[in-house]
Amino acid sequence: MKTAQGTVLITQEEIGRRIEELGRQISRDYAGGAVTLVGILKGSFIFLADLIRTISPDVRVEVDFMSVSSYGDATTTSGTIHIEKDLGISIEDKDVIIVEDIVDTGLTLLHVFNIFSARGARSLRVATLLEKPGNSKYQGPLDYVGFQIPNKFVVGFGLDYAQRYRNLPDIRVLDEI
Ligand code: IMP
Ligand code: MG
Repeated sequence: MKTAQGTVLITQEEIGRRIEELGRQISRDYAGGAVTLVGILKGSFIFLADLIRTISPDVRVEVDFMSVSSYGDATTTSGTIHIEKDLGISIEDKDVIIVEDIVDTGLTLLHVFNIFSARGARSLRVATLLEKPGNSKYQGPLDYVGFQIPNKFVVGFGLDYAQRYRNLPDIRVLDEI
């Protein structure tokens, strides 16, 4: 559906249903245990807020956020990231799920994953609302994926273009950017 703010790729209802499925999966995988969700700011905040409420109360859930900026570097394949805001809690010996809005090049995820491994997380999994297949330099598994999407720039449901459009309730492709 075309709107004044682009074409809707994934509706609010589809997102809601899929997040409930992911929540059920997480509830099963961590039943009787605990999990620490770490949202990568800012794009993941809406996904994380919805996801956490679909996880069974039987699972002990902790939440924290990290903000990173990536500097692509033409001379290396991996680039580097700068931690703008670090975690407030220790993840040592914790079962952690990194929560991303979208995995594109996977560089953000690759670096965050390595940082968290070095900090001694007991287990590390990844939840991402969206995945653009084929671009990722992150070789590990994406454990909980909402939707695979075509290689187009999308906004809404927390994702921005130049800090705009995070408030759109669905996922859209901007017609011209
Ligand atoms: P990466 O390329 O996998 O490291 O993705 C880094 C970040 O770029 C994501 O967490 C998003 O914030 C942003 N990003 C990548 N693709 C898109 C898109 O299509 N729309 C909005 N943000 C995007
Ligand atoms: Mg962004």
